[in-house]
Amino acid sequence: MAETEELEAIVTVAVGDVESASDLDELERARVAHTGRRSRLSEILSSIGGLPPERRGEVGKAANAARIAVESALDRRREELEAGLLGAELAADRSDVTLPGDPHPRGALHLVHQIRAEIEDIFLALGYEIADGPEVETDYHNFTALNMPEGHPARSLTDTFFVDGHPDVALRSQTSPVQIRVMQHRDPPFHVIAPGAVYRRDDVDATHSPMFHQLEGLAVDRDLTMAHLKGTLLHLVRELIGDHEVRLHPDFFPFTEPSVQVQVRWVDRHGTARWLELLGAGMVDPNVLRACDVDPERWRGFAFGVGLDRIAMVRHGVPDLRLLFEGDLRFLEQFA
Ligand code: PHE
Repeated sequence: MAETEELEAIVTVAVGDVESASDLDELERARVAHTGRRSRLSEILSSIGGLPPERRGEVGKAANAARIAVESALDRRREELEAGLLGAELAADRSDVTLPGDPHPRGALHLVHQIRAEIEDIFLALGYEIADGPEVETDYHNFTALNMPEGHPARSLTDTFFVDGHPDVALRSQTSPVQIRVMQHRDPPFHVIAPGAVYRRDDVDATHSPMFHQLEGLAVDRDLTMAHLKGTLLHLVRELIGDHEVRLHPDFFPFTEPSVQVQVRWVDRHGTARWLELLGAGMVDPNVLRACDVDPERWRGFAFGVGLDRIAMVRHGVPDLRLLFEGDLRFLEQFA
């Protein structure tokens, strides 16, 4: 009889401990204390074999029932605690599907590239084709073939970046070497434009930068004259910036003769009105034609090089060229 009563007491205490366990660690401690090998319940269970035979059935039944009662209390509480844990995790992890999503900002073409595309359209409409050339050029294409042999003073005007250990390789200082590449590979007549980045060791001020963008034009045909060149350039400028005050000003380039520059009236950031060069141009020098095996007796050419960044400055009142290269969204978004 004594064991049965003790077993009842064991169950009461054990179930009480199990049910009040507040986390899985506490529950494990209750399990070890009440059902572990050194628990009183285990002792009673293993003593059954030694009991007088007439008591084994009664004590055995009661001890088993006690074990089952404690174990099922353990199972219930474990489930409760685990469910609570899961609930807490779910609550902490919950995502609010009603929140607005992360906006993915939409890009836009950079102002300089918009202008490049516009100029391309203007010339495509005139029947020009688009040509391309490398930004890392040979000294020959960038200077020598353009009538600027080594030691020619005009080279220093467009001093550029040379590749270490390769005195013949430089970042192109102008898009004009594409003229050479086109003339070497095509038979006239042709009309091409070639946009792209160019590099110069230019003093950095508000209208100069060591990298900028040009668009080269080259027409080689029979009987081309300055009048064709002038008409083409004025058409370009009108299309791009409308009725601005423009002038053709005599200039010098080693690879054109005669040479001009197109200037526009422009108010700088100090409020001073001055003439700003938009592009250089001229009739292709016969020496350049000859260097490319084009017979100057049969063919004439005109060429021009437009500063794309300058167009942006004039057309949109950009006070400082460097704004175009800094990637500041507050500036760029105005043109998106
Ligand atoms: N390449 C010249 C420059 O960068 C511009 C130019 C191009 C002039 C074509 C004449 C003809 O200044």
